Amino acid sequence: MRYTRMPIEIEAPEEKGYSTICYNLAESSMRDINFRDLDIDLKELVLFYGEHRGILKLRDAIREDSRMLTADDVLVTAGAATALFIVATTLLSPADHLMVIRPNYGTNLETPRAIGCAMTVVDLSFDSGFEIDIEAVSSAIRPQTRLISITNPHNPSGKLYSQATILSLISLAEKNNCYLLIDETYRDLNFQTALMPYAAELSERVISVSSVSKSYGAPGIRIGWIISRDEKLMNDFLAAKEQISLCNSVVDEEIAFHLLKNKPRYIEPNHAHIRSNFAIIKAWYAGQPFLEWIEPQAGVVCFPRLKQEYSIDADLLYTTLYERHGTIVGPGHWFERDRTYMRIGFGYPTQDELKAGLSALETCLEELAIHKP
Ligand SMILES: Cc1ncc(COP(=O)(O)O)c(C=O)c1O
Repeated sequence: MRYTRMPIEIEAPEEKGYSTICYNLAESSMRDINFRDLDIDLKELVLFYGEHRGILKLRDAIREDSRMLTADDVLVTAGAATALFIVATTLLSPADHLMVIRPNYGTNLETPRAIGCAMTVVDLSFDSGFEIDIEAVSSAIRPQTRLISITNPHNPSGKLYSQATILSLISLAEKNNCYLLIDETYRDLNFQTALMPYAAELSERVISVSSVSKSYGAPGIRIGWIISRDEKLMNDFLAAKEQISLCNSVVDEEIAFHLLKNKPRYIEPNHAHIRSNFAIIKAWYAGQPFLEWIEPQAGVVCFPRLKQEYSIDADLLYTTLYERHGTIVGPGHWFERDRTYMRIGFGYPTQDELKAGLSALETCLEELAIHKP
């Protein structure tokens, strides 16, 4: 495989240096938590090789809110990123075909490219409210198609796909003997609706992926997971994990277990924070003339674009925003889109930071956006 660094990784805030950024609206997660806030004592922890599937109590905690899943349906991985890598490298080869809905998380595009499989991209359109075009997916499926790949809740739009859409995709996967990968990394950030069961509950053809990174603000412990009810497939995923790393860091697993066991203590304040920041960004949109958005339904990001009556020098916009105002957002090219789109993250900043960052963005747009004649 030949790997290429993606712009979203090269230009990520942690690569730029957090100390150079005042108003970070580029993150797709909650604010990172501090180890001292965990109230957890690891002095007796034995630093052994952990269970290859992931420590049992953690796998149990992951599937705890499900009446159907068992701990054997769960494989713990080093973050959702490794989970996605395992899924792609297990299922795809140069002879296979992938259907991928874009924008999608980088790994879901770049790893298949590195594998060299055939790929059909179905782009989500702003004008259709980022709905998935089921007809387009259906007509692009070939006998070689092994995987259909989506993200739900969606990054970067914050769209939450309906049960009807998910069921249509499952029916396509079942009919065509392929798998449906649903990257559910934002699942616990459903701040407006009840938590949906993992989609993997709905069919053996569905692979769900998630992690503690976004919802708990703990991306620094690299813990994610794959859920599937297909026993043979899970065995193949385990074989891949054993090739990559054998097991997870037992320290990370212990911390993840603590987070999941105390879920309300960590998630409820996060939802309260998102709701108040969502109100701030919603009011801001209503009062500014330059950007249009599809209002996000879940998660902590949205993906507005410059209104069609304006044009802008996008390079100058993002440079001015960063260099003069210490503010960053996620420019469209991170998502293989026009740079007049941008991802704005509203879960990571404090209320004051969000207000200041949005105000900086509006100042730059006022200065640089040109009304088309
Ligand atoms: C949709 C999606 N999937 C997966 C990941 C990777 O998450 P993790 O930190 O768990 O590897 C991200 C991170 O941005 C993401 O947005």
